[in-house]
Amino acid sequence: MTSTAAATGTRSTVRTWFITGATSGIGRALTTAALGRGDNVTVLARRTEQFSDLATEHAERVLLIDTDVRDAESVGAAVQRTLDRFGRIDVVANNAGFGVFGAVEEASDAQARAIFDTNVFGVLNVLRATLPVLRKQRSGHLLQGSSYYGQTAHPGVGMLAATKYAVEGLTDALVGEVAPLGIKVTLVEPGPTATAFLSNLDVAATDSDYDQTVREVQRAIGALPAEAFNAPERVATAILAAVDAEQPPLRLATGSAAARDMRAALQARLDELDTWAEVTNAVDTPAA
Ligand SMILES: NC(=O)c1ccc[n+]([C@@H]2O[C@H](COP(=O)([O-])OP(=O)(O)OC[C@H]3O[C@@H](n4cnc5c(N)ncnc54)[C@H](OP(=O)(O)O)[C@@H]3O)[C@@H](O)[C@H]2O)c1
Repeated sequence: MTSTAAATGTRSTVRTWFITGATSGIGRALTTAALGRGDNVTVLARRTEQFSDLATEHAERVLLIDTDVRDAESVGAAVQRTLDRFGRIDVVANNAGFGVFGAVEEASDAQARAIFDTNVFGVLNVLRATLPVLRKQRSGHLLQGSSYYGQTAHPGVGMLAATKYAVEGLTDALVGEVAPLGIKVTLVEPGPTATAFLSNLDVAATDSDYDQTVREVQRAIGALPAEAFNAPERVATAILAAVDAEQPPLRLATGSAAARDMRAALQARLDELDTWAEVTNAVDTPAA
């Protein structure tokens, strides 16, 4: 972090953020919140013209860069432009992502590969481009965009959950690799949030064998009242709390619904380990 006083006066430093998927939903709310407290933001998105209003308002502190996270070269160029403009990167929000809805079998190979390209390989592109900067600084905070579907899943969200579980797995390893280098890591795990996520969902072709499971879930999600979806601004507030913390969480659930579902999934895993302990432990016999 730089030592310049924040415009808000609530902190003694100004951070530089590097936020993917920054023009919509949670990314936009986070960008707005960071700008609101006087920070600098590099806004990465495929259509940055959607951000021109805020860019005009905060011209000195916003860098708009058209970037598809699937394009490693353009992510690398965005990092260099951020350094040229702001001199450092303090917070990387690996937020860009989308969902595929349908049974695991229903999602086509193209749909499965497309969601991994953005939600997993896009995250890796951003990590490879930004980590050398954070390592050199010996500081920084990585915000890894996960979901409660990174901890639990139900019919219809298999492809989405597969990508978020992948991000969680690599992040569980990453945190220990970069902690000695002064870099903090937080998995952001939102519950249902009122963004463009559902309208951007890629829906798989359907098979009637999944009417009782996948289509039931689809109907249930469609019937959720507006109140079931949290405001992205509240998610941004929670993320700021984690970024400001001396000891940020590795996992930050945003919303009680996310926390409830994650807790139930964790408890079910513990219970099953206990139920099967005898069979599990009987395996502990050295090979003859
Ligand atoms: N909303 C929820 O209920 C919820 C719950 C759990 C987790 N999440 C996670 O939260 C994150 C943000 O989603 P959101 O809810 O804010 O949805 P959103 O409003 O649809 O925003 C997603 C953002 O990601 C960008 N994006 C998608 N593919 C991209 C690519 N290949 N390259 C660059 N940008 C790309 C989109 O840009 P374009 O405008 O160019 O498409 C958009 O700005 C996602 O990782 C999502 O999985 C959301």
